[in-house]
Amino acid sequence: MRNSPDENLDISEGLEDVIASTTSIGYLDGQKGKLVYRGYDIFDLAEYSTFEETVFLLLYGKLPDRTELEVFNDKLVSYRPVMDEVLDRLAGTPCPCHPMSMLRSGISLMECIDETCQVAQDIEGKREMGIRLIAQMPTLTASIARILNNELPVPPDPGLGHAANFLYMINGELAEPLAEKIMDVSLILHADHGMNASTFACLVVAATLSDIHSAITAGISALKGPLHGGANEMVINILLDLHSQEDAKRYADEVIANKKKLVGFGHRVYSTIDPRAKILRQYAEDISIITGNECLFKIARTIEKRGIKAYGKKGVCPNVDFYSGLVYYCLGIPTNMFTPIFAVSRTAGWVARIVEYIEHNRIFRPRALYVGPEGLSYVPIDERE
Ligand SMILES: CC(C)(COP(=O)(O)OP(=O)(O)OC[C@H]1O[C@@H](n2cnc3c(N)ncnc32)[C@H](O)[C@@H]1OP(=O)(O)O)[C@@H](O)C(=O)NCCC(=O)NCCS
Repeated sequence: MRNSPDENLDISEGLEDVIASTTSIGYLDGQKGKLVYRGYDIFDLAEYSTFEETVFLLLYGKLPDRTELEVFNDKLVSYRPVMDEVLDRLAGTPCPCHPMSMLRSGISLMECIDETCQVAQDIEGKREMGIRLIAQMPTLTASIARILNNELPVPPDPGLGHAANFLYMINGELAEPLAEKIMDVSLILHADHGMNASTFACLVVAATLSDIHSAITAGISALKGPLHGGANEMVINILLDLHSQEDAKRYADEVIANKKKLVGFGHRVYSTIDPRAKILRQYAEDISIITGNECLFKIARTIEKRGIKAYGKKGVCPNVDFYSGLVYYCLGIPTNMFTPIFAVSRTAGWVARIVEYIEHNRIFRPRALYVGPEGLSYVPIDERE
């Protein structure tokens, strides 16, 4: 079916405001700056929950009791290892290669060479494989960080929780309690976020009844882009280039005077400050003081204040990326690993939403309005002008 461009059709570029499905996993209220997972406010989850418990909540729709959480934790721990052959192949990747590309390739390799990934493609099989991927993502990501740093991967420590183990596998040493708490909170904050681009990409692939590894690689691919997950890397690079609050003022004023975009600002849905940025701002301050990076925090605050003054009235405020990069930097994580960490956490939301969607599956098939030429005659190649 083809419509004429002259017809009065509503076109929603970027599918803005188009409702493509129902969900009971979570939502964000962009005007109130609210983010909710399964009915629980993100501020409460960040304060009282753990990533493992939040993953259980996202997947099963309720907070676990003690026994359920223990069983779930044990399962995550048992699923953490990634085949040596996958890591060896990644180590042979020609450099320089972006870690998000390595992550995407790592997931594909797992599915291709690890026979235990060949599970039943029913909903339960996909959920179980999804849980395994949630558990393996930190191992894969930390191994990539170490490979890129010419170091050997550190195997997971079954005695550590998800966040502590992740930091341990990246840095090769046990994290301080504050660092562990901050990583845990950051993983909780990034776990789900409505029908964002990467989640939608996962759903588009999953709805074809493709396997879950393929769906997750689609999510990773979408998240790689600077308009989605890549902004925190850009923010920290900007902060590191500025050496004082005076520099920060000059930088922000120049961006604003030239009506350019401030990186780490703006969001398709939030027209007020992103609640995740609000939570991370406090942790960014705490960890920056402890690690001797307070100057970076002050630079960020200076840009934030000027940015809000200039752009806040039109609803452009700091988003999660504005502070997440600073937090990761203070945790000693290499800059190029910031977006992969986002993926480590978001895999939980991707899996939860994939499983939910395919229970009532319908393949995605939007339409595009054809506005190209009509009725052209084919001209043989040698006769073309
Ligand atoms: C996130 C983002 C892609 C959302 O894009 P979007 O919903 O398509 O919004 P648009 O790019 O159409 O911008 C809408 C308006 O807000 C302004 N705006 C959006 N982001 C802005 C920013 N970071 N700084 C200044 N102004 C911004 C645009 O200039 C535009 O203004 P106009 O209507 O006067 O032309 C966009 O805000 C952006 O590019 N931000 C910077 C990158 C970033 O931080 N990404 C991480 C997101 S979590």
